[in-house]
Amino acid sequence: MNEYLEQFVKNKFLKPGKALDLGAGKFFDVACLNQLGWKAFGVDIKTRVNLEKPYLSPRRPFDLVYSNYVIQKLKKPEQLIKTAYQNLKPKGWLFIHSFDKSDKNGNSKIDKKQLSGLLVNNGFVGVQCKVFNFYDNELGHKHWHKILEVTAYKE
Ligand SMILES: C[S@@+](CC[C@H](N)C(=O)[O-])C[C@H]1O[C@@H](n2cnc3c(N)ncnc32)[C@H](O)[C@@H]1O
Repeated sequence: MNEYLEQFVKNKFLKPGKALDLGAGKFFDVACLNQLGWKAFGVDIKTRVNLEKPYLSPRRPFDLVYSNYVIQKLKKPEQLIKTAYQNLKPKGWLFIHSFDKSDKNGNSKIDKKQLSGLLVNNGFVGVQCKVFNFYDNELGHKHWHKILEVTAYKE
């Protein structure tokens, strides 16, 4: 599981809740959250949900909406932020990981200022944003990334 997401969940939630993964890929984080007692669900272009368009989950509202390494791929990154907001409960948390624009291995155009601006402009509060180095040790990868992490909540 994304170790930063796991830490975030342990810090912010006293007990498991309901979560939505935007761009879940192989649904690994969804499976791990379910192991931790959460009711987690995911969507992806491969499950015919295009995050360039509005998406309202039939299971909303969620305590947590997260999205890892998807927003930097979108032509309209703002739509993912709007979708996160619309699927969250009041007091629900958002967690996003992306590659930062400065990441030579990330192929990303998004940076801290743009991403935090999108959150503030779409109603999120308590926005926290940071960039840090992470070594991807997976076979065939073995390189450094600059990870852009943003967290916030819906009032
Ligand atoms: C790098 S993978 C990350 C997967 C997973 N979140 C993870 O952390 O392992 C990016 C994912 O974004 C999905 N994706 C790309 N464009 C999308 C779109 N327009 N709508 C929904 N999903 C999209 C891809 O299908 C892929 O599963």
